[in-house]
Amino acid sequence: MKVVVLFFLAGALALPADLDEAEFKAMSVDPTFNKLPPDLSSRITNGVEASPHSIPYQAYLIVSGSNKSWLCGGSLISPKHILTAGHCVDGGISATVYLGSHNLHETESTRVIVQSRHLIRHENYNKSDISNDIGVIELETEVELNENIKVISLPSRDVTEDYVGANVKLSGWGRVAGDQATSAVLLEVNSTVISNTQCRQVYSIVIDSMLCISGTGGVGSCKGDSGGPLVYDNVQIGVVSYGATGCAVGYPSGFSRVTSFLDWIEEKTGLSL
Ligand SMILES: *[C@@H]1O[C@H](CO)[C@@H](O)[C@H](O)[C@H]1NC(C)=O
Ligand SMILES: *[C@@H]1O[C@H](CO)[C@@H](O)[C@H](O)[C@H]1NC(C)=O
Ligand SMILES: *[C@@H]1O[C@H](CO)[C@@H](O)[C@H](O)[C@H]1NC(C)=O
Repeated sequence: MKVVVLFFLAGALALPADLDEAEFKAMSVDPTFNKLPPDLSSRITNGVEASPHSIPYQAYLIVSGSNKSWLCGGSLISPKHILTAGHCVDGGISATVYLGSHNLHETESTRVIVQSRHLIRHENYNKSDISNDIGVIELETEVELNENIKVISLPSRDVTEDYVGANVKLSGWGRVAGDQATSAVLLEVNSTVISNTQCRQVYSIVIDSMLCISGTGGVGSCKGDSGGPLVYDNVQIGVVSYGATGCAVGYPSGFSRVTSFLDWIEEKTGLSL
């Protein structure tokens, strides 16, 4: 059974300049895991650069706690709300949210930076088993939607499918490998949803309110991608939650399953889903 870690990171990207300490808030939940197979230990997660602004719902978050800041992904689900992971807002006091971005190292004319009004973490988020790893950020002001900044749809309430076999897209500015820097440009990968039963053979923590994608082809999430969207057929079905230690390739990536949290999202945002 593998150790799983949460993929957010503190300060590894020098943006803004005061974020300079390279500290991970990674966490293991399965102490029985010992060693990675040697052939899987050090390869990249195989993202490709997204076509600029082709993922207009993607958000980049700098979250500040009392002592430090960390980086996460998120998605715009209304002009006033970002969906993200519970562990991304856990301990956070405020967030700076980038929308309309592609290359974080450039001052892009499409970029809009908004501050948070409230960070809302799921009340039952449990960092031991990574359950209920979901959160919402209410923005201080509504963002103006345009070609480069759009809202992503969430699944409708009558969806009962488990999405197994669905071809999905994952995106983020996270690390391109466990020991490398985060990406300046937005990356995306395609993958396939696997069954929870299959995923549970790798990560013991998998429960119904989670969803996993296959690591076949070396694709997966890595540090800095946490909170970002997993999208199927233009609908967000997952929120990046966890994966294998060191972003080892070949292993599944774990997500919070959006269909399990529609009531919670509706309650916290006031949106009608
Ligand atoms: C913040 O830093 C202080 C001093 O280093 C430490 O005592 C405290 O536990 C830290 N608080 C948090 C929330 O990490
Ligand atoms: C969190 O999860 C752990 C592991 O499943 C469990 O032992 C613990 O009771 C949970 N905590 C809460 C507050 O439910
Ligand atoms: C993912 O799949 C879509 C459609 O099937 C394709 O347009 C896109 O280029 C693929 N992206 C990657 C990174 O392979």
